[in-house]
Amino acid sequence: MKARQIKTNVYWVGAIDWDRRLFDALIPLPDGTSYNAYLVQGSQKVALIDTVDPSMTEVLMAYLEDVPAIDYVIANHAEQDHSGSIPQVLTKYTNAKVVTTPKGKDLLMALLLIPEDRFMTVGDGETLSMGDKTLEFVHAPWVHWPETMLTYLREAKMLFPCDLFGSHLATTDSYVSDEGEVYEAAKRYFAEIMMPFRTSIEKHLERLKSYEIDVIAPSHGPMYDKPSFILEAYRSWVFDPPKNIVVLPYISMHGSTQKMVEYFAGALADRGVRVKQFNLAVTDIGKLAMALVDAATMVIGTPTVLVGPHPSIAYAAFLANALRPRLQFISVIGSYGWGSKAVEQLTAMIPNLKAEVLAPVISKGLPGKEDLRSLDNLASTIATKHKERGFV
Ligand code: FEO
Repeated sequence: MKARQIKTNVYWVGAIDWDRRLFDALIPLPDGTSYNAYLVQGSQKVALIDTVDPSMTEVLMAYLEDVPAIDYVIANHAEQDHSGSIPQVLTKYTNAKVVTTPKGKDLLMALLLIPEDRFMTVGDGETLSMGDKTLEFVHAPWVHWPETMLTYLREAKMLFPCDLFGSHLATTDSYVSDEGEVYEAAKRYFAEIMMPFRTSIEKHLERLKSYEIDVIAPSHGPMYDKPSFILEAYRSWVFDPPKNIVVLPYISMHGSTQKMVEYFAGALADRGVRVKQFNLAVTDIGKLAMALVDAATMVIGTPTVLVGPHPSIAYAAFLANALRPRLQFISVIGSYGWGSKAVEQLTAMIPNLKAEVLAPVISKGLPGKEDLRSLDNLASTIATKHKERGFV
C-alpha cells in the first residue's frame, strides 16, 4: 500500500477501523476510529511515530513493505491501540530502538514483553536528530496514562500528541473537513477519555503556547491543519465555567420514577434551567458523558431494587465518579416500595465528585402532591443556585 504523504517526507501510515463499536470493552464508538501512525524520513534517520492496534498490524506492515530501514519507533503512549504492533515492527527492523519515557519503557516491557535492550528513553525536552529533521519530546503525563509524551517535529511545526486532541472517528479525510462532525466526535472523546485529567491538560495547554504549531496529528481521527479549532475547543472544555444545565440520568421499573423525572424536567425548564435527560435503559453512555462536560448539576433518578439503587444507575454513578466532571450540585430523585437506602448508597459511590448534595426527593410508590411539591422546591433551589453562581 502507498503511504499518504502529509508533509515533505512525513507520511500517514495508520489504519482506519470502520467497524469497531466498543473500546476498552466499555466506550461506545458509534463512528468507528482510526489508529494513526506516522513515518518521518530524515536525511540520516527514519522514525515511526506510534503504531496501530494489534488487530490491524497487517495494515501498518503493508505500508512499511517498501521502507527498508526504521531507526526509531517513537512510543508516545503504551496503550496497546498505539503500541500493540511495536513487536512486529521490531522483528522486521532489527536495529530499531523504541524511544519513550522511562515510565513508557517500564509499561511496554510489561505489556508487550519487549526486551530492555530495544529501548532508548528520553527526558522531557530532549531532542533527537534525524539529519535534516529534529524530534523534540515533551513529557505530558496523564493524557492518557502517566507515561505519555508528545512529539514535536520542529522543522515541519507538527505536533504528534497521540491520544490528546484525538477523536474516535473513522474517516478517509486526512484533515478535518466537517468541523461539526469532528467537534462532536472530539467532545465525546474528551468526555470519555480525557475529562478525568483536566488538571494535567490545563498544564499541557499552557506549555504548548510556547510552540509554533501548524499541524496537530493525533493518533485517533483526522489531523488538524487549523490547530486553533481543537485547541480552543479544549480550552473551553477545560477552563469554561459549568453551564446552566441539569443532567438527569434515570431508569424506571414500574413508572413511578418516570413520572417524577418527567415532572421534574418540566419544573426545571419552567425555571429556565436546561435539562439533558437520559433513560439508561436505552441511552448511549457516551452521550451522558458528553453532557457531563458542561453541566453544573446532576440529578439521578432511580427506583429502589433490594433497598439499593437500580444496578444500571449504580453503573452510571460509578462511571460519573471515575470521569470526575466539574459538577457543582448533585441530588437524587426516585421511588421505593417497602424501604430504601438508595440515596445513602448512591452518595457513597461518588466520592470524587466534590459537589454539594441537595436534599433528595424519594416517593413511596407513585408520587403524590407532596412529592411533586418537593420536586418543585428542588427545581427552585437548583435554578437559584445556578443563578447565584452566574451559570448561563
Ligand atoms: Fe488511544 Fe490511551 O489509547
